[in-house]
Amino acid sequence: MKVTVSRKAHFNAAHRLHNPLWDEARNAQEFGKCNNAEYHGHNYELIVSVRGEVDPETGYVIDMKVLKDLIKTKIEDRFDHKNLNTQTSEFANLNPTAENIAVVIYDLLRADIDAKFDLKITLYETPRNYVEYEG
Ligand code: NI
Repeated sequence: MKVTVSRKAHFNAAHRLHNPLWDEARNAQEFGKCNNAEYHGHNYELIVSVRGEVDPETGYVIDMKVLKDLIKTKIEDRFDHKNLNTQTSEFANLNPTAENIAVVIYDLLRADIDAKFDLKITLYETPRNYVEYEG
């Protein structure tokens, strides 16, 4: 019996979408306001979903305290109140789109979540725009 359990988390971060291989006009055209050279912030809402068998002894898929602490140490401590472009190694050379942020978060968490579990990342960049990544 497989069940999906999810933990919601939150972080605020600044970013700028920019492709250094393009000129200013192309960047402005592709990324619009998100190309602002002085950066801008988003309130990111993160949902981390873990799917697996319910342990017959605990009745849990995964201890939510463990998941909560993992998200805090690996994601929130790393990205909350940071400028993603200038203050994180992950996005020093990677455009911090919601898509890329979701993939980075997946990879950071996947390393610490047992391979027997499926992992899914849902990341809201705005209340209406979100991306999903399942590896
Ligand atoms: Ni933006």
